[in-house]
Amino acid sequence: MSSNTFLRWAGSKKRLIPKILPYWGEGFARYVEPFMGSAALFFSIEPPKAILSDINTALVETFCAIRDHPAAVYNRLLRLPLGEDAYYQIRQEYAAQRAPLDRAAYFVYLNRFCFNGLYRTNTKGTFNVPYAASKTGRLPTLNDLSKAAKVLSCAHIRAGDFEETLKDVKSGDFVYMDPPYAVNNRRIFRQYGPDSFGTEDLDRLAAALLTIDRCGATFLVSYAMCRAALEVFRGWHVRRAHTQRSVAGFAWHRRKAVEILVSNRELLDRK
Ligand SMILES: C[S@@+](CC[C@H](N)C(=O)[O-])C[C@H]1O[C@@H](n2cnc3c(N)ncnc32)[C@H](O)[C@@H]1O
Repeated sequence: MSSNTFLRWAGSKKRLIPKILPYWGEGFARYVEPFMGSAALFFSIEPPKAILSDINTALVETFCAIRDHPAAVYNRLLRLPLGEDAYYQIRQEYAAQRAPLDRAAYFVYLNRFCFNGLYRTNTKGTFNVPYAASKTGRLPTLNDLSKAAKVLSCAHIRAGDFEETLKDVKSGDFVYMDPPYAVNNRRIFRQYGPDSFGTEDLDRLAAALLTIDRCGATFLVSYAMCRAALEVFRGWHVRRAHTQRSVAGFAWHRRKAVEILVSNRELLDRK
């Protein structure tokens, strides 16, 4: 049990995992994560069967390539030169890459050395996150990617909006949802570019929770504690969880934060 994700991901709930893990139980038929990002919880759980999805198609392509060809992606990754100048060269070349395994290697490389694990594109869809000089950690090893592939072998992985994925939820499923913060009304650096989550998406999510509940599945949502969220998730079981949040890499946003966990099942009393 328990392996690590091979990506860095802005908004990842890595630090919250010890508080979320106890909600997963072996009695669940399947794990479903429609906002997968780096799928940190999925890799901690290593469920026997899963659906993973995200609106970010480059991310989904990378997951599929690593699940199916970890060694081939690793061999391509090894060939990429290191350092700031090389990073900008690779970033420029990435837009022109078409072969799935090359694209996956470039994605893993750029994700590792970019600023704060952000994925952001310009209006033409070209990845444009700057280089991070430090604190990025090392590139994944062949062992890391092979382990990830093994865990991912149980997963159906696809690109798309969360509502599409939720249509396939069945009785007995465990659905973990970690959407981006809806920041429509804040003058804040937008973490997810044009695919940012808006308050209207939060309303769509709230409506989807009813459908999940009615079909007999269990859901768990993690979200930043705020008035809008408490309003939208009213009527479900809600618990606060203290963690450290890192948004967009700015020091003033790297601070202790209160998240909420929301579920249609009673939540354990954990600080
Ligand atoms: C907070 S991150 C999830 C982080 C994840 N829990 C992890 O372990 O890294 C939110 C993810 O939702 C995705 N996303 C944004 N809007 C979406 C939508 N409408 N449908 C599906 N995924 C969406 C983003 O691309 C991003 O990867």
